[in-house]
Amino acid sequence: MNAPRARILGLGIHVPSQVVTNHDLTKMMDTSHEWIVERSGIEQRHWVGPEDGNFTMGLKAARMALADAGCDAAEIDCIIYATLSPDYYFPGCGVLIQRELGIGHVPAFDIRQQCAGFVYGLQMADSFIRAGQYRKILLIGSEVHSRLLDKSTRGRTVSVLFGDGAGAAVIGVSDDPARGILSSCMHSDGSDAECLAMQWPGVAAGREGFITHQDIDEARIFPNMEGQKVFKTAVKCMPEAVQEVLEKQGLAVSDLDMLIPHQANLRISEMVAKLLRLDASKVHNNIQKYGNTTAATIPLCLSEARALGKVKPGDLVCTVAFGSGFTWGAVLMRW
Ligand code: UT7
Repeated sequence: MNAPRARILGLGIHVPSQVVTNHDLTKMMDTSHEWIVERSGIEQRHWVGPEDGNFTMGLKAARMALADAGCDAAEIDCIIYATLSPDYYFPGCGVLIQRELGIGHVPAFDIRQQCAGFVYGLQMADSFIRAGQYRKILLIGSEVHSRLLDKSTRGRTVSVLFGDGAGAAVIGVSDDPARGILSSCMHSDGSDAECLAMQWPGVAAGREGFITHQDIDEARIFPNMEGQKVFKTAVKCMPEAVQEVLEKQGLAVSDLDMLIPHQANLRISEMVAKLLRLDASKVHNNIQKYGNTTAATIPLCLSEARALGKVKPGDLVCTVAFGSGFTWGAVLMRW
């Protein structure tokens, strides 16, 4: 008997209501709307207010995804939660979702692949479903960047790029074997692990404690990024991953109806499309409105593309992501 095909049965998103424009950022740091738009394409992002944290946004996206899938929370038999900005150091956000949904003692996995978190989660969900391990999986990607960025001029290269938000998907057995996840590929290369990282607080060798006054005084506690190295590696790895998942199915770039790339920088998405020789009309971007929401970007972008009619049943859709680790991957789906 053939293994069941996994399919995204429903999608949900949540972004906090507070919009922060590039002009708003100029009041906090030495930057400009022109610099940010020219280098990244970003015009605004959303930041959480006091009422929200990571899992509260994830929960709202999850409830929307469940409704979209026509699925009762009680049917979920596994939770996968992707984030780099969890509410607590431990436990992870997955169990908080389990508690709030009141869905019985299902397993809750927390995964940490940053911008590639959602595509890694899709591959996990696909494998679990094809193996018959679980039948309805709730995958969430959610980030609260605004509470961990350096919003002074010192942190401007990183802080102008990131925004808060959440996205979720219900993944289950496809009732149509032609539709669903066709192939996926995931990769990592830790040689540049510290190139895009938040290394404090932490318990690495040589540390005096999880966090010290000195760490705070010397501003080590913020994310750091070697932007150009990340850019160059992303534009190499992302097209390769797209080609890899297509080749696994004997398909070509020309067969693609829509590419949903991770939203780190509009220039990266444009370069990826150019290298793949994919027309801009077949790539959906929404970084202009949200900035880089890391594990939430793929569902935020996919859900918007679907709402705009750019992703329709039967379409060949590819999602591809690259991020800190470095970790990257792609998932090919017949929608
Ligand atoms: O999912 C993965 C997440 N991250 C990424 O994918 C990021 C990949 N990298 C990038 O997107 C780009 O490297 C950035 C957008 C981060 C930066 O663009 P860049 O063209 O590589 O600029 P740069 O870092 O080389 O900086 C150019 C100049 C510098 O000034 P000087 O030394 O030329 O005088 C920076 O100090 O721009 C300055 N600068 C800024 N100016 C205004 C850096 N950040 C800012 C800022 N506003 N926010």
